[in-house]
Amino acid sequence: MARLVIVSNRVPDVSENSGPRAGGLAVGLADALAPGSLWFGWSGERLAARSDEIHSIVAGGVTYATIDLAEDDYRAYYLGFSNATLWPLFHMMPSLVSFDSAGYDAYRAVNEQFARALLRLIQPDDLIWIHDYQLLGVAATLRRLGVGNRIGFFLHIPFPAPVLFDLLPPAEELLQGLLAHDVVGFQTEPDRGHFLAALRQRGVCVQGNDAWHEGRGLRSIVTPVGVDVDEFNRLAVRAVRRVEARRVVESLAGRALMISADRLDYTKGLPARFDAYGRFLSRFPERRRRISFLQVAAPSREEVDQYKALRDELDYKAGAINGEYSDFDWVPLRYMTRAAGRGLLAGLFRIARIGLVTPLRDGMNLVAMEYIAAQDPLDPGVLILSRFAGAATLLPEALLVNPYDVDQMAEAINTAMLMTLEERQERHEALLGRVRRHDATAYSRSFVAALSQGDG
Ligand code: G6P
Repeated sequence: MARLVIVSNRVPDVSENSGPRAGGLAVGLADALAPGSLWFGWSGERLAARSDEIHSIVAGGVTYATIDLAEDDYRAYYLGFSNATLWPLFHMMPSLVSFDSAGYDAYRAVNEQFARALLRLIQPDDLIWIHDYQLLGVAATLRRLGVGNRIGFFLHIPFPAPVLFDLLPPAEELLQGLLAHDVVGFQTEPDRGHFLAALRQRGVCVQGNDAWHEGRGLRSIVTPVGVDVDEFNRLAVRAVRRVEARRVVESLAGRALMISADRLDYTKGLPARFDAYGRFLSRFPERRRRISFLQVAAPSREEVDQYKALRDELDYKAGAINGEYSDFDWVPLRYMTRAAGRGLLAGLFRIARIGLVTPLRDGMNLVAMEYIAAQDPLDPGVLILSRFAGAATLLPEALLVNPYDVDQMAEAINTAMLMTLEERQERHEALLGRVRRHDATAYSRSFVAALSQGDG
């Protein structure tokens, strides 16, 4: 069997002889990462100048190879073009986009740095699988350097409608970069549709889901990322017995817990979610002391201006809610701006009567799936989910809401509070079946199968 080479901006946090520690992409790829595979990406280190040194470490039979970035590149490639241009644009929030050509130059340079390092690591039969928006140009450089391997790309975030994609000054070149792959994968049908429409508009020959360009064929596929249901459920069951989880239950004093857990990112819709909770408390006073909302918000990309502004806005809103509604013995909102360990979070999901997942736009959203996986089937909680998360295409039995509609979200919280055990069980059973069908193994197997088929 061909060796699999994973390429992503971040590599999992590993230590020698043990597997990856955290969740994220490492869970999605666990099934595909057979011993002998290679995972290549950024070390997380920043140096004064560019360096071509490659570090490597073997853990669980997988080699993790990394390069460092120059400080200037980190700023212009990572904070700049990746996270201040592509991230808001691909999430269809053009008013938050900032662009400067120096950022794009650094993006091209870092993609080239990745490709040149990879060239030293790959063998002729390797299957190369590149991940996400930070690395749209790696394959094109590899092709220029003469690499003929099968190369696949998976976009974890949405692909924007062509009218928005066209706002990007280097739109043309980025699409050309995607055409250098044999397989390009998306989370949902609309994402693929947007991509194929952008190709057609530029005169690329598209037939069905395949495209032909300059003698090469490209297959586009839809293969949503997923979670490992049994692993997460085990974590949750174990965690509820832990002392931290027991302390949470005690502190609730019989109230329902509503939980949200996100990176502190403006795509996640936190300000409107806080507003919706405030609206719920004002419209349904009889339920005020029956609920406690825990928002876990892990700081992210803090050097990008829009992220700083978001944090200030949320501090203000959280203070306003607690100031208005707190009682001597009840605080309506617990707002934590730090990451919680994966195990504890799994336990809190299981305890929570409501999972509130309301991104303004999201490629998929694995928190929604993890919330389902963590539940006790005999007494499951209710998932409230944004219809603009990719996960909504897979999870119709959730309470689907428009994350811009504060009143609708407030009502959904009330509906979830009142839902009968029977309805909760029915919805959960259906949702769990869907999360199982679209799990991490299904994701990686279907992508690798498409990538392995040599007919493009
Ligand atoms: C999203 C992106 C990933 C990214 C992750 C964390 O899930 O799709 O590519 O790695 O956020 O963001 P960070 O900027 O910390 O890598």
